[in-house]
Amino acid sequence: MNPIRRPLIAGNWKMNAGGQDGCALADAVAKSVKDSDQVDVVVSPPFTALAAVAHVLDENKSKVTIAAQNMHAEPSGAFTGEISSSMLKESGASWVILGHSERRQLFGETDEMVARKVSAALASGLRPIACVGETLDQRDAEATLEVVARQVRAFVDELAKQPGFGVIAYEPVWAIGTGLVATPEDAQAVHAMIRGILGESSDELAQQTRILYGGSVKADNAEGLLDQADIDGALVGGASLDAAGFGKIVEAAQRLAPRTDQG
Ligand code: PGA
Repeated sequence: MNPIRRPLIAGNWKMNAGGQDGCALADAVAKSVKDSDQVDVVVSPPFTALAAVAHVLDENKSKVTIAAQNMHAEPSGAFTGEISSSMLKESGASWVILGHSERRQLFGETDEMVARKVSAALASGLRPIACVGETLDQRDAEATLEVVARQVRAFVDELAKQPGFGVIAYEPVWAIGTGLVATPEDAQAVHAMIRGILGESSDELAQQTRILYGGSVKADNAEGLLDQADIDGALVGGASLDAAGFGKIVEAAQRLAPRTDQG
C-alpha cells in the first residue's frame, strides 16, 4: 500500500445473495466493518438486490458503497435483458465491475467491449472497477505481462480522462475460486507493470489509480498481499459471502492503512 491511495476492499457476490439473503449479508457486512474508517468498502450484489441492499446500508448509516457486476455500454434501447449505467445509479450503485474474467470467458466480452463499457460508466458518473488477468495457459507460456498489458491498454485512455475515479483489479484467472493465490511478490510484479502503463499516460494517473488484487483472497492471506507497494486493495469473491471473514480482510487493510498514512 501507498499513502497516496486509500485502501479499497470490494466483495463480489457473483450470482449469490440476490434476494433476502443479500439484505441479511449487507446488514452483517455493515455491522462488521463499521469501525474501518480508513478503508473504502464496496459490496457487489446481483442486479436484483441492488436497491434493497442500498436500503439496508442506508438504514445502518453505513459508509459501505455498492458496485454492480456488469452493465451494457449503451444508455438505453432495444437490448432485452440488459441494464444501463443510469439504471444502476438509480438502484443505488456508485461502482460497476467491468470485464470480470467470467464475463470475458463465459459471455464473450472482448477488450474492446470492456473499453466501451468503461467509457460509458465514466460518462455517467459510475466508477468502473475494470478487471484484467491471465489464464493458466497464458501464465505457463510466460505471457502474463503481455496479456495483462494488452487488456490494460484497451481502456487506459478512458481512465486517464478522470485520474483516480476508476479502479483496476488484477485477477489471475487461475487464482479465481480455486484456492490458489498468487504470491505477494508475483502479484506485486504485475501491479507494478500495470502502474507503469498508467504512468505512460500521466504521473497523476499512475499515482491516483487504485489497483486491487483478486483471486482467492481470504482473511489469512490478505495482509501479505495488501502489504505490497502497488497493491491498493482486494476484489474478494467467495470470502465476501461470509461477513465475518470479509470483515477480517477489511481489518487487515485497516491495520496497514495507518502505517501508510505515516508515509
Ligand atoms: P474469489 O473470486 O475470491 O472467489 O477467487 C474473486 C473474483 O472473481 O472477483
